[in-house]
Amino acid sequence: MGHADMRIRVIAQSPEDFNAWLKHQQQPALPPSTPQAIQGLKIFTKKNCVICHYSGYAPDLTHVGSRETLAAGTLPNTPANLARWLKNPQAIKKGVHMPNLGLTDDQVKDLTAYLEGLK
Ligand code: HEC
Repeated sequence: MGHADMRIRVIAQSPEDFNAWLKHQQQPALPPSTPQAIQGLKIFTKKNCVICHYSGYAPDLTHVGSRETLAAGTLPNTPANLARWLKNPQAIKKGVHMPNLGLTDDQVKDLTAYLEGLK
């Protein structure tokens, strides 16, 4: 279900720009620096997001904050859309293999601050 909800955006770049992007993607993102983002990282670990997101089952989130879109190209990557996604992924993409994790509004805000900072 929802398999058609995958978009691909092709960005044409010079080899130099592409190689600079690739090099950046291969580095870890900077650690969170604001109190809210640090709290978001704690929730990220506690809520077992890593089980899906760093096992190859779900998209790697290392640089999610630098992406133009979320949810396989279907949503512009804005803090509001990211928060909507975290609150209830099923409401955006029916049948998606990310469950509703029952996050509170505060947890969503902290997670959004953390994830949007991963550039
Ligand atoms: C049971 C597995 C599972 C768990 C647990 C899970 N996710 Fe996901 N998540 C997914 C899948 C699968 C997708 C891809 C959905 C799509 O694009 O159709 C996804 C997509 C996302 C995206 C969009 C990524 C992108 O590249 O567009 C974000 C952000 C995200 N998840 C954050 C989280 C956070 C934060 C947690 C923990 C609170 C979490 N996820 C827990 C499976 C999971």
